[in-house]
Amino acid sequence: MIQLRVDLGQRTYPIMIGQDLLSHPQLFLPYLNSSHLMIVSNHTVAPLYLSKLQDCFPTLKQSLHLLPEGEQYKNVDAVMAIITTMLQQHCDRKTTLLALGGGVVGDIAGFAAASYQRGITFIQIPTTLLSQVDSSVGGKTGVNHPLGKNMVGAFHQPAAVIVDIDTLDTLPRRELVSGLAEVIKYGLINDYDFFCWLEDHIDALLARDHAALVTAIERSCSNKARIVAQDEREQGCRALLNLGHSFGHAIEAGLGYGNWLHGEAISAGICLAARLSCAQGWLDRQQVTRICGLLKKTGLPVRMPKELSAQRILALMSNDKKVACGRLRLVLFHSIGDCFVSSDFDYKKMQDCLGQPPG
Ligand code: NAD
Ligand code: GLY
Repeated sequence: MIQLRVDLGQRTYPIMIGQDLLSHPQLFLPYLNSSHLMIVSNHTVAPLYLSKLQDCFPTLKQSLHLLPEGEQYKNVDAVMAIITTMLQQHCDRKTTLLALGGGVVGDIAGFAAASYQRGITFIQIPTTLLSQVDSSVGGKTGVNHPLGKNMVGAFHQPAAVIVDIDTLDTLPRRELVSGLAEVIKYGLINDYDFFCWLEDHIDALLARDHAALVTAIERSCSNKARIVAQDEREQGCRALLNLGHSFGHAIEAGLGYGNWLHGEAISAGICLAARLSCAQGWLDRQQVTRICGLLKKTGLPVRMPKELSAQRILALMSNDKKVACGRLRLVLFHSIGDCFVSSDFDYKKMQDCLGQPPG
């Protein structure tokens, strides 16, 4: 097993990465606050992995809440439903919540943990590639609003993140590919060597080679842990993690949550950020080809969806959390492995890039 750490003073926590971790209660026990566990999962993941997790704790009281399947249910009603179950089950401030599932389960359950009686301990047990490399780490929890993605939420760090890569064996291929968008993002932001490694190993990752997956997850989580430790509340460098997200979130909200997967939307957003950086003269064309080439080879979209006009995307982006003083801030490229945040780009060039016909 590999163990990384997110260094946040008293709230420092481990990320454990390995095979068959769900069968090892000793990994969980140091992070359980009391003898009452609240497990939150969904109707897809529970039949696959819930009993394995439950079997770890035969002597503890276990309560369960299963969420409906899908991004379209990532809303405040889902949080209220968890809280209702917790009250009915007499959960108290010492109850530990375990979030078993992908990023949707983790984000909703994390927000319930942040809110319940002003905050209880929770453990992330991510079961998709995307949640293993991104959403389970860093303490961003929350839900969507019809007018904008992740608009309601809180920073609430988990007590531990337990990544059992065996869970990836049952993940649908489209979800695996979606997760790879966030993996590639880390290479693009500030890890050129990792980007080159990904170019060489993308076929192994798509074939779910366990050794390649462990390397990709470890490298992604180390990158994220380092950035979060420097800037937990996104006052500075953490904003880099949002590469492609301003455009991507607009796609998700504009098409209706759940139509394009998160990673798919981020991929199209990354390509748009690359084209805009090139139009600005900051990134050379060859690198744009390389960036979009790797995403395309992975099986990800590299163009905006044809159903959304440039105007509609711009309107949706005006609600983005990265808007500061009325000015949109984007993550853009100097080169592969060297991104920066800027509001100092030509708005007309962005409109032109958005207006290019989808290919
Ligand atoms: P998801 O949670 O919807 O999971 C994808 C699908 O796979 C779902 O149908 C799920 O039930 C199923 N699934 C999960 N694990 C499985 C397994 N092991 N085997 C078979 N099926 C399985 O999607 P996701 O990509 O994990 O997460 C996307 C969400 O994460 C979005 O809401 C996004 O906004 C959020 N996110 C949050 C952060 C953060 O920092 N909090 C970062 C990135 C993304
Ligand atoms: N996924 C972006 C962040 O965690 O900051």
